[in-house]
Amino acid sequence: MAVDSEARRRAEWLREELSRHNYRYYVLDDPSISDVEYDALIRELRALEGRYPDLVTPDSPTQRVGAPPTAGFAQVAHGAPLFSLANAFDQVEFQAWYDRVKRLLEGRDFEMTCELKIDGLAVSLTYQDGVLVRGATRGDGTRGEDVTGNLRTVRSIPLRLLGRAPGSMEVRGEVFLGRSAFQRLNAQREEQGLPLYANPRNTAAGSVRQLDPAATAQRPLDIFVYGVGDVEGGALPPTQRETLEWLAALGFHTNPHTRLTPAPDDVVRYYADWLEGREDLDYETDGVVVKADQRALWEPLGVVGREPRWAVAYKWPAHQVVTRVEAIEVNVGRTGKLNPYAVLEPVQVGGATVKHATLHNEDYIRTKDIRIGDWVVVERAGEVIPQVVRVVMDRRRTDTPSFHMPASCPECKSPVVRAPEEAAHVCTNASCPAKLLEGVQHFVSRGALDIEGLGAQWVRILRDTRLICDVASLYSLRLEDLVQLDRMGEVLAKKILTNIQGSRERPLARLVFGLGIPHVGSEVAELLVAHFPTMQRLMEASEEEITQVPGVGPVIAASVVAFLGDPANQELLEKLRCAGLRMEADAPAAHVQGLPLSGLTFCFTGTMASMPRSQAEEQVKALGATATDSVTRKTTYLVTGAEPGASKVRQAERAGTQSLTEEQFLELLESPATVAAQ
Ligand code: IVH
Repeated sequence: MAVDSEARRRAEWLREELSRHNYRYYVLDDPSISDVEYDALIRELRALEGRYPDLVTPDSPTQRVGAPPTAGFAQVAHGAPLFSLANAFDQVEFQAWYDRVKRLLEGRDFEMTCELKIDGLAVSLTYQDGVLVRGATRGDGTRGEDVTGNLRTVRSIPLRLLGRAPGSMEVRGEVFLGRSAFQRLNAQREEQGLPLYANPRNTAAGSVRQLDPAATAQRPLDIFVYGVGDVEGGALPPTQRETLEWLAALGFHTNPHTRLTPAPDDVVRYYADWLEGREDLDYETDGVVVKADQRALWEPLGVVGREPRWAVAYKWPAHQVVTRVEAIEVNVGRTGKLNPYAVLEPVQVGGATVKHATLHNEDYIRTKDIRIGDWVVVERAGEVIPQVVRVVMDRRRTDTPSFHMPASCPECKSPVVRAPEEAAHVCTNASCPAKLLEGVQHFVSRGALDIEGLGAQWVRILRDTRLICDVASLYSLRLEDLVQLDRMGEVLAKKILTNIQGSRERPLARLVFGLGIPHVGSEVAELLVAHFPTMQRLMEASEEEITQVPGVGPVIAASVVAFLGDPANQELLEKLRCAGLRMEADAPAAHVQGLPLSGLTFCFTGTMASMPRSQAEEQVKALGATATDSVTRKTTYLVTGAEPGASKVRQAERAGTQSLTEEQFLELLESPATVAAQ
């Protein structure tokens, strides 16, 4: 049916009116009409859209719950990575963060924004021309899950921004479930005889990951946004404080309890005030986030791993409980280090059952004077392994002896030594079976070579039956070796062999992580491989070269060089190479060798008339260059299209990066050799 212009005008008016009321109700918490009046307006809009389906727009308030259920979520790559935060657990650690930033700024004062750290689920929202086009979970910070349909149902997430929005922008925030909403939800479940939810955070996270958006819509989720990723076609305010104000003006729900101050004492007061006051809030917080306010400081302060130096999470004290130490046991790590841990009488802490707590090393046990049979205060902070805070001395029996580390390895009985200056005791046996066990378990684990079916029990059996002597020997296992093992049927044996076979194809970064080089986690492995895209190159890299990689410091560099320089490890890598594992990064490492743009790094901003950005990136990569999402000192050229991102332009100016217009860029593509040779 043709839409008459009267109906179109009315629909537009209703949409705007409803969006405004929605905003007043869910974001400002200040409704100006009653629920009945709101319902009448939305009914009218639904009726109009029903009659004229052409009038339906994706940002219509009637379209919040529109997406059909899905079978799973697609993976999406984030433009700029979503960082995590370094923690400070007390005033001393916060002050240490402040002092370090100040030192890095050569003594200059700087202002800080203090925000509450909302305990929910981190999400990223992408708007194009002011309309929400994508919502994703944080995931690992680089890739998340596409949960657009679900996030559209969160009433305080604007489907269309107010006022003049940039051409494209990505906004970050924390989705959460309010305490009272959580209680109402659980009361309902109790009535229905359903199991109760453990806490608001997990419920919020579970709700965002529902496969059916209609189910998510049933949960009264909310969001506080706190930051911005890539912005194109519009300027970003120069400070965090103004960014928050700008986001609020665009219609986002921002937390009202922020403070701007140059004084660390003031931050500590803000923290203390909210430590007291947090229980009065209707949402859960797990601390305070302190950020250097001037965005211009962020790039020079830099990022370590995934943690920017310009911000810190100053956490509330962890959940604590009292329980008894039943035993102190020791296991041997993959580097041969003896790790003592307390076996605890099981106890609930913050929704989880705790049975063990790490005791780190002998000095730690001495200093805290922890003995078997003691009552201890145990705490669990977030996902961190439980810790023993202190012993409840007045409950100690008088006859308990002090703990000593064993003189011989609990696994192989070889002598144990403690190097001078080191806190750890280590097993002296280079081929201690415990090292092998831990090393193989790490190698086959999910983030590493991901060999499914090879659980800890099987790895132990393979070791004890001498079917494996190092990680490379996994690749020589044969079906007849496996089927002779007790309880290993042919089906399982075949499955394991198939998985081992498949693991040969894992990307190089997984292998680098899987080797278990001390201090090299999966993220550092990614960073290393991004810069040294073949195992050979990484093995040849010096400490200085490795330290050049952003996010990689001297400790990691020294550890990598020591590990890869060890002839035993070199031999192992040779075996792995012969076994057919990938020794090169995913993309052919074109930018390494002599292509016209080798060694150059390009960053693109704004819209180019001649080609989309992805194509431009592909083209420079094909010519040997690297394309990145942000400007750093290593960026050779910033190519600026129409309406370039102001922050990238500013960063380029600061970093001394040369800007190219689209025309100059096209010329460079025409005759790359001449430009690159300059
Ligand atoms: S800023 C570098 N601000 O905390 C900037 N994060 O470990 C990184 N979070 O899951 C984030 N409230 O979603 C920032 N006011 C706040 C926050 C906040 C909660 C979460 C964030 C992430 C985690 C960071």
